Amino acid sequence: METKYYNEEELNEAAQALKSGDLVAFPTETVYGLGANALLPDAVKQVFSVKGRPQDNPLIVHVSSFEQVKTYVDNFHPATAKIVENFWPGPLTLIFEIKKGSLPSIVTGGLSTAAFRMPDNKKTLTTIELAGVPLVGPSANTSGKPSPTTAAHVFHDLQGKITGIIDDGATRIGVESTVIDLSDPAADPMILRPGAVTKEQLEAVIGGNVTIDRHLVQSSETPKSPGMKYKHYAPDTQVMMVRPEDWQEAVHWAKEKALRVGVIAGPTIAEAVRFDVAAVYMYFNDSVEAATKGLFAGLRGLDEENLALDLILVETFPEDGLGNAYMNRLKKSANQKYFEK
Ligand code: TXA
Ligand code: MG
Repeated sequence: METKYYNEEELNEAAQALKSGDLVAFPTETVYGLGANALLPDAVKQVFSVKGRPQDNPLIVHVSSFEQVKTYVDNFHPATAKIVENFWPGPLTLIFEIKKGSLPSIVTGGLSTAAFRMPDNKKTLTTIELAGVPLVGPSANTSGKPSPTTAAHVFHDLQGKITGIIDDGATRIGVESTVIDLSDPAADPMILRPGAVTKEQLEAVIGGNVTIDRHLVQSSETPKSPGMKYKHYAPDTQVMMVRPEDWQEAVHWAKEKALRVGVIAGPTIAEAVRFDVAAVYMYFNDSVEAATKGLFAGLRGLDEENLALDLILVETFPEDGLGNAYMNRLKKSANQKYFEK
């Protein structure tokens, strides 16, 4: 099959293709999603096979309004209204207990809950409305690879395997949405995956506590030894994290070992080391926002075979605010590995 690009005038064509069971990738403010009609189990099955994704990993149901969620959910957490008012459309996924049998079990991974998100992208919201059905949308990459932040990334991974791609340029945020569990109306909301919407922002809006999944806290503690179970967002080339104070030494060490090194960092670091390394992917500026936006594109860019790098060194950020989401993804791509003196 030839994968086509849908332009602004062809959104209805994309919507009809989706409705009838085809796979079409769509843009969001976080990363590109691999869309399929969430109500057609066969279409959803194809999403798993095209990505090479394990079938027990449930998908996010993308909607164009909160109203649409009510078709599937009737037991809402008391904080829902405030959260939706403040963060939708936006990079926040909400997990609710669903009405029994209201969504195919291939979508929920057989759970009694499902994840919902209203993405902040006009073309995609229009497409969902025109399709008249919710869309599943895992990140539109081959499973295990960095998520796609441009249509070209999607094309690279999925060309010939999906019907089309709705192109809307580079995504604004660059990492996947914050996922919060609201399935128990009596419990505090719990963050299962950090993203651009932070715990502090949520607490300010709710006026109450938000907890963080224990597994996240543990894996974001001091570096752990390499373990395959953490391998995600991973290019083929080995990735290593470098703390701000360690760059000189890290580059010196790599030079002594005669390694072909690539660097992903903001201008201050990138310019300080550029003549000592083989390749550089520079973030637009030194902020954590720019780093988060550029991380996956940098990992993909420096993983190109023709660069033949032995190692990619990446800038770290403090783990607060958006830095939590950035470091969560970076640690996975680096298999938790830091440069150590
Ligand atoms: O920003 C995003 O969220 C992107 C864009 C395309 O919307 N989508 C995305 O989807 O990242 P995916 O499939 O790569 O990640 C979905 C995450 C997974 O970690 C999955 O385990 C979790 O949401 N999830 C889905 N349903 C769940 C449920 N019922 N309970 C707990 N976790 C769930
Ligand atoms: Mg993903």
